[in-house]
Amino acid sequence: MRPPRENQGNRARHAARSGARGQAADRAPSPFWDAAPADLEPDRLPEDNFSVQVAARHYVRPLLEELGDRVLGARGRLVLARGSVPAAWAQNVWLHPRWIPVASIGDAARQLTTVQRNWRAHVPLPGVEPGFRRRLALIGERLPHVAAHPLAFGDPVPAAPLGAFTLWREDLLLAAPRTTSPFADGELIFQENREDPPGRAYLKLWETFTLLGRFPRPGELCVDLGAAPGGWTWVLASIGCRVFSIDKAPLAPQVGGMPGVNHCIGSGFALDPRHAGRVDWLFSDMICYPERLLDVVLRWLEAGTCRNVVCTLKFQSETDHETARRFAAIPGGSLRHLSCNKHELTFVRLAPE
Ligand SMILES: C[S@@+](CC[C@H](N)C(=O)[O-])C[C@H]1O[C@@H](n2cnc3c(N)ncnc32)[C@H](O)[C@@H]1O
Repeated sequence: MRPPRENQGNRARHAARSGARGQAADRAPSPFWDAAPADLEPDRLPEDNFSVQVAARHYVRPLLEELGDRVLGARGRLVLARGSVPAAWAQNVWLHPRWIPVASIGDAARQLTTVQRNWRAHVPLPGVEPGFRRRLALIGERLPHVAAHPLAFGDPVPAAPLGAFTLWREDLLLAAPRTTSPFADGELIFQENREDPPGRAYLKLWETFTLLGRFPRPGELCVDLGAAPGGWTWVLASIGCRVFSIDKAPLAPQVGGMPGVNHCIGSGFALDPRHAGRVDWLFSDMICYPERLLDVVLRWLEAGTCRNVVCTLKFQSETDHETARRFAAIPGGSLRHLSCNKHELTFVRLAPE
């Protein structure tokens, strides 16, 4: 197999941007902080046509690489970028953010509630600015309570708009009344099932269906490539789908024995879509190079026998942004980093209902 591509251009660009303040800005252990650009100069804060793209924990670097020349500055997981087009690596995007000078904690809470009811603070990781956590907590205490219970699978996402804010300086808020995710920092927390599914990979499908607001229907035929030990197959079979799963390894017995599950030991690359008949959903969580996965997905889409696709692009130490862009360019497709994803992106393409 080919080695993953180095993205030397982006690495050099971001290394050049890195400054002493940016390097020190976040001391959380992560291989990705070395890419952080310098903090913004206080007199050069952007005024308009920018957004705040929130990286997933530990994945600031791929977000910076993806945004490239759009990056204006960053602090911890918050990346200020030109324009408001969401990056795939952004778990949440603050739209039309504004700077709000504040005289006190009470004044900050007052100004935010004048704009709208629902706000969640983005709390920088330890070490960003001593004392900010405490001040943010005190502002939060003075705002109307926003419930944030762990979701049960099948619950709808909250409908009310959720604003996001942080303290940029002691006397300056950065705040956006609208964000792309209804969850603080785009982090979706479920009431987990620790008994039935093998492992925690099932959470990726729970999150995908919850965010889409769309679930496979009972009786639909699903192909699950790279299915073992069986978390995704378990989700699908629990909904009542028929699942044809493939992996080089067997499924956990409690999944392999579920009604509607038919497991085949083999390679997901060997299944020819022209011989598979009509499939409602194609899933893949196979460990493979994203380029190989792209070939598989294109083959299935070109065969025209598969209506919906959900798959995970898994990256090695470097992120293959070029292949990610090719996935994102598939008509009707979308690519995003789920809160359960590691160094991965989830691609979804749904047929119109
Ligand atoms: C991350 S695990 C999948 C977890 C699964 N989605 C779940 O929920 O339990 C990745 C799987 O890909 C499988 N795999 C890797 N290459 C494969 C191939 N060419 N064909 C089928 N499965 C493959 C591995 O055996 C492994 O079980």
